[in-house]
Amino acid sequence: MERLQKVMAHAGVASRRKSEQLIAEGRVTVNGEIVTDMGTKVSRQDTIAVDGIVVEREHPVYFLLNKPRGVISSVSDEKGRKTVVDLLPEIPQRIYPIGRLDYDTTGALILTNDGEFANLLMHPRFEIDKTYVAKVKGILNKQTLRQLEKGVVIDGKRTAPAKGRILSQDYKKETTMVELTIHEGRNQQVKKMFEAVKHPVMKLKRETYGSLTLGGLQSGEWRELKPFEVNELIRLAKSSQK
Ligand code: URA
Repeated sequence: MERLQKVMAHAGVASRRKSEQLIAEGRVTVNGEIVTDMGTKVSRQDTIAVDGIVVEREHPVYFLLNKPRGVISSVSDEKGRKTVVDLLPEIPQRIYPIGRLDYDTTGALILTNDGEFANLLMHPRFEIDKTYVAKVKGILNKQTLRQLEKGVVIDGKRTAPAKGRILSQDYKKETTMVELTIHEGRNQQVKKMFEAVKHPVMKLKRETYGSLTLGGLQSGEWRELKPFEVNELIRLAKSSQK
């Protein structure tokens, strides 16, 4: 569910503020009923009308991108850097990334114009597994891996249980490749977790997001999600509800 004024603005009716004015003036109906409450929330199934004219909602779109490094996870950048939206085709819908990958992190990122779907996947109550592969400094051993799995304190709070796997250890270069699956989405969580156990991350890639894997997507490539993939992510999020 999303706020009525936000949905109206997204659909191109008017700015969010102007939409609030329209609501306050009693010119907006939801499923035929006039609403004047600013807190009203609507879903895709609701019919919104302004002055009796039904508002055409944007067709929802969903993309999976293999984000390259050196691209920022937002819609625009005041410094003019390339954004993930620049990598997708020009479409009429206004899409944005669900969550963020750091500038130097690569891998699976979903973009959509479906606010309800985005909120569901990002809400801390709905915990979707995300698997990362990190190249870290030093030889990380099993004991340290257990620590990461049990939880380490970052920003004053212990991380939730995670799952880890040591993929390889390079004794010459003194680096380790580690796979880590977490379901929280705290700011720079993976880097901070490895920092907490004194193995700073040198490279980071998100390999999976819930049921989605990168498959054959090369760096910078994208594909549209199939309806069953979207439904599966919704199902996963809802079934993980805490
Ligand atoms: N954790 C990080 O530290 N960085 C990311 O980009 C994603 C997860």
